[in-house]
Amino acid sequence: MDIDALLKEMTLDEKIDQLMQLAAFLFDGASHEGEITGPLSDLGIDSRTIHNSGSVLGGSGAKEIKNIQDAHLKTNRLNIPLLIMADIIHGYKTIFPHNLAISCAFDPKLVEETAAIAAKEAAVSGIHVTFAPMVDLVRDPRWGRVMESTGEDPYLNSELAKAFVKGFQGADIHSSKDSVAACVKHFAAYGAIEAGRDYNTVNMSNRELRELYLPGYKAALEEGALMVMTAFNTVDGKPCSGNKALMRHLLRDEWAFDGVVISDWGAIRELIPHGVAKDEKAAAALAIEAGVDIEMMTSTYVSHLKELLEEGAIEESRIDESVRRILTLKKTLGLFDNPYRFLDEQRAEEVIFSEEHRKVARRAAEDSIVLLENDGILPLSKKDSLALIGPFAESNDLLGPWSWIGDREDVETIKAGIEADDVKALVTQPIKDIHRITEEEINASVELAKASDKVILALGESSDMSGEGGSRSKIELPEAQLDLLKKVSEVNTQIIVVLINGRPLDLTRVVPYARAIVEAWFPGSCGGSAISHVLFGVKNPSAKLTMSFPDSVGQIPVYYNHHNTGRPYDDNNPHNRYVSKFIDGPNKPRYPFGYGLSYTTFEYEDLTLSSQVLTEQTTIDVSVTVKNTGTTPGEEIVQLYIRDHVGEVVRPLKELKAFKKIQLNPNEAKTVMFKVNEQMLRYTHSDLTDYTDPGDFSVFVGTSSEQTLEASFYYQLGSEEN
Ligand code: GLC
Repeated sequence: MDIDALLKEMTLDEKIDQLMQLAAFLFDGASHEGEITGPLSDLGIDSRTIHNSGSVLGGSGAKEIKNIQDAHLKTNRLNIPLLIMADIIHGYKTIFPHNLAISCAFDPKLVEETAAIAAKEAAVSGIHVTFAPMVDLVRDPRWGRVMESTGEDPYLNSELAKAFVKGFQGADIHSSKDSVAACVKHFAAYGAIEAGRDYNTVNMSNRELRELYLPGYKAALEEGALMVMTAFNTVDGKPCSGNKALMRHLLRDEWAFDGVVISDWGAIRELIPHGVAKDEKAAAALAIEAGVDIEMMTSTYVSHLKELLEEGAIEESRIDESVRRILTLKKTLGLFDNPYRFLDEQRAEEVIFSEEHRKVARRAAEDSIVLLENDGILPLSKKDSLALIGPFAESNDLLGPWSWIGDREDVETIKAGIEADDVKALVTQPIKDIHRITEEEINASVELAKASDKVILALGESSDMSGEGGSRSKIELPEAQLDLLKKVSEVNTQIIVVLINGRPLDLTRVVPYARAIVEAWFPGSCGGSAISHVLFGVKNPSAKLTMSFPDSVGQIPVYYNHHNTGRPYDDNNPHNRYVSKFIDGPNKPRYPFGYGLSYTTFEYEDLTLSSQVLTEQTTIDVSVTVKNTGTTPGEEIVQLYIRDHVGEVVRPLKELKAFKKIQLNPNEAKTVMFKVNEQMLRYTHSDLTDYTDPGDFSVFVGTSSEQTLEASFYYQLGSEEN
C-alpha cells in the first residue's frame, strides 16, 4: 500500500474521520447494543463519521469484530480498514494476576509469557492493538489504578515494560499471528496524581519526571511499542493531551517517536474543564498541535478541525501527519492486505482459555503471592480441620479490574482450589456482602471457627474498590470484615488471613489477630488453586513487594527510594525531636519494597567486590553467598541496590539496579554474581542530562530493600586516574 498515494486520494473529511475512535457498539455489525451514557451522550457524531472512523474501541469476540469490519468496508469509499483496539491489560479471557501482583514475581520472562498468551487470545479474536502496558510509576496506594502498575521502582518498571511489549508484539508484529500492537500508557506520570485521587493534578520538577517517571515509557518505546496513550492529568500545569512540550517536543522530537498517539477516553474534550481550552474548538487546536493523532470517544476533531483549517489556526500538514501515522500503523499490521489480520473464529475456540493457558495463569498467580506474616502456622497440613470463612471464601471476584473479557463464571474460587487439593476437613462459611456482614453470618462463622483446628479468613476489597475511579481515602479492610476477624479470634486464634485486593492496605488492625497473612492480590482465573498451593506448601511463596505497604495512610507517600533529608531520623536516637519523623508513628512502612517471606530461611554472607574503584571503562563484579538455612526448598529474589553518597542533586538512600531469582534446596548455598558498571549509576542532573559524578558509592545486596549487606566503592573519572 502506497500511503502517500492513498493520502492524496482522501478528502479532508475522510482524513479527519480517520482521527476518530469510537466504541464498538456504535458501529454497524456490533452484536450488543450499548448506549453512550454520562458526559459523552452529546457526542454529536453522525453516521458519516461512524462509517469513516479510523478505529474502534473494544469489540468482543471474533464474530462481532468480523461483522463490524465487514460492515465498515462496505461503506468506506477507499476501503480503509478499521483498527480494532481494546484493553487487554492482564489477560484476554485467561486472566492473569494484575500488573502490581505479577510484578512481585520479579520475573520478566513470566511477564513476557503471560503477555504473549494475552496477545494470542486477543489476536485470534480480531484485536489489533492493546492499550497496554500501563507503566505509570506509583507511590500512593490511595489511587485505585496502582493495581495496573508495576510498582514504585523505575528500574523494575522499565524491565517489566520491556517484557510486556515483547510479549504483546512478539518477534515480528507484521507476521506473528499471535501478536497485538502495544500502546504504552499513560503518558505521562499519571501515577503521581496528588492524594492518589484519580484524574487529579501532577506537580513535579521536569528533573524528577525524567529520573523517576519517564523511564518506563521510554523502555517500552525502545522495545518497539507502536502506540502511546495520553494521561488525563496535567504535567507542569498543562493537561497531557494538550501539552505540546511533553507530547511533541519531548516524545516526538527528543525521543524521535513517530508512532500513533491516542488520547485517553474523552481527554481532549476535558481540556475544557481543566481550564486550558474555552471550548471544543480550542481543545481540538491544542491537541492536534500537541501531536495527538486519535481522539478517543469525543468528537472535537471531526467537529472543528475543518473550521480551524479554514481560519488558518492550524496547518493541514498537522492533519496529514496524524493520518499518515495511522495509515502506516494499519500497513505495519498488514490490514491493507488482510483487514481481519489473524482473526479466526475456529481457532479462537481452540486456543482461548485453554488448559495450557490456565496452567500458566496458575503458575503466575503462585509466583505473585506474597507471604507477609507467618509465625510457623503455614504451610497447613491437609489433616487439619479447617474453617474457610469470609467474603472471598467462595467468591469469584478474583479477576480484578480491567479483566474485561474474563468471565467470573470461569474463576477457580478459593474453596474450589482447596477442595481440588483433596483437603477433606474443610467447612466454609461464605459471607455475601464484603461491607455488610449479618449477625447471622457472624454467629455461623464463630461457631464454625470454634469447631475447627484452624481458620482461613478470606478477606479483601471487591474489584470495584480499586482500578479506575477507585481511589480510597482510607486503605484498611472494610469495617465489617475487621469486626468479623476480631470476633473469630475470640474463639480461635489459629487464624490465617488471605487477602484479595488491588493495592497495598493498612493492615494495622489485621496483624494482631493473624498468625499468617497471605497477600494474594486479584490472582486471576486460576487464583483458587494457586492460593491453595501456597497454603499447603505445594508452592513455597517467593514473591516480594514492589510497592510499600504503609504503616498508616498518614505516612503516604512512603517508598523505599527516598532521600535522606538534612535531618534524617536515627533509630538509635528515637527521642530526638528535631529530625524528619512523625511524633505519632514510624517513618518506615509496615512492609517495604522487596519484602516477602518464604517457608524457609535464607542467609546472605561474603558480599565481595572485585575492585573498590570503578571507572567508565571498567566493571565491578559483585558476589554474595546465599544459603538456604531452612528445611524446605525455596526460591529467593536476590536484590542489588546502590547509593550515590554525594550528587549534584540529592540522591535516594537506595536504588534497585539488578535482581536475580535463585532456587535453593535446604542447606544448599550459591554464589550469586552481579556486574556493576558506570551506566547503572547515572542519574538526571539539574541540567536534565544523565551522567555519573565521581565519588563514593555503596552497593547493597539482600532479601529486601531493608535487609541487605553493604560494601563500598569509588567511581573515578578517567582524568582522576593516577
Ligand atoms: C480509560 C482508561 C484507559 C483505557 C481507556 C479505554 O479511561 O484511562 O487506561 O485504556 O479508557 O478503555
